[in-house]
Amino acid sequence: MPLLLCCDDEQAPAERLLAALQVQPTPGQATGPDAADARWSLAVIERHRFPDGEWRLRLPAHLPPTVAIYRSLHQPNEKLVELLLAAPAARELGARRLWLVAPYLAYMRQDMAFVPGEVVSQRHVGRWLAAAFDGLITVDPHLHRVATLAEAVPLADAQALSAAPLLAQAIAARRPGALLLGPDEESAQWVHQAAAAAGMEAAVCRKVRRGDRDVQVELPALDVRGRAVVILDDMASTGRTVAQAAAGLLAAGAASVDVAVTHALFVSDALAVLRSAGVGEVWSADSVPHPSNAVSLAPLLAAALQRAVWGSVRTG
Ligand code: R5P
Repeated sequence: MPLLLCCDDEQAPAERLLAALQVQPTPGQATGPDAADARWSLAVIERHRFPDGEWRLRLPAHLPPTVAIYRSLHQPNEKLVELLLAAPAARELGARRLWLVAPYLAYMRQDMAFVPGEVVSQRHVGRWLAAAFDGLITVDPHLHRVATLAEAVPLADAQALSAAPLLAQAIAARRPGALLLGPDEESAQWVHQAAAAAGMEAAVCRKVRRGDRDVQVELPALDVRGRAVVILDDMASTGRTVAQAAAGLLAAGAASVDVAVTHALFVSDALAVLRSAGVGEVWSADSVPHPSNAVSLAPLLAAALQRAVWGSVRTG
């Protein structure tokens, strides 16, 4: 029986993934050590924090050959340490095939040295994870200067899923006929995918970033007067990117501006900044737990995990 592991603070999304795994089609061609019983179960990694801040982790004493750890890597620093402890321990306890299901994958934006000596964190975090796991499943990783997830996390089984089609459906149901707008060039990959999925019109802005909270967004040459516009991006962190785009759109005569993102990081005053800029509704996928979550990724993740574990899943 394959086992899904999670930490107590992510038991709710892990249970949603487990429920989605249970309704996935039974693997038709299951082979290998788990063929006798393909049903997943869930166990929680017990965590104790010592007074000095170190973790003590406790996994189930005996693990089956197939194990997946669910850990979404927002607020990533402590979680990366947990994973670097839990992954080798899982192998010692019996896991022979080990996946990481990380709906949000951190450190992907630091993908080049902008000044000499700057650490290219994407490369190093990617190598750590590739050394610890046999496979990775994530959603809309911020891949800008590399084409594939495997270039950032060098694993034979590195799956980058996209929430764009799911967000597109949610947007089309709530704002039919809206213009989809990406706030920067990097968002083109998600915006065009979403627009194609929902048959919507799409355009992309240009962005210049001067600092963490200092961005300038230039709108595309497009008449937005009277239009409902939905800004779509992979993530919102400080919210400044989306807020700049929204303010520009409303100044240019847009009837409404709503926001959809895969990863709702929304740090500190981000939501207040969005509201001040005139943003109406905010919708997100549930890779990062947030009141704006409107789309469940569990079915998408479950299908990918079954494919990864069983090679192929019978769909008929
Ligand atoms: C980077 O290009 C990403 O796609 C987002 O646009 C960016 O991370 C958003 O950051 P913030 O919300 O802090 O402006």
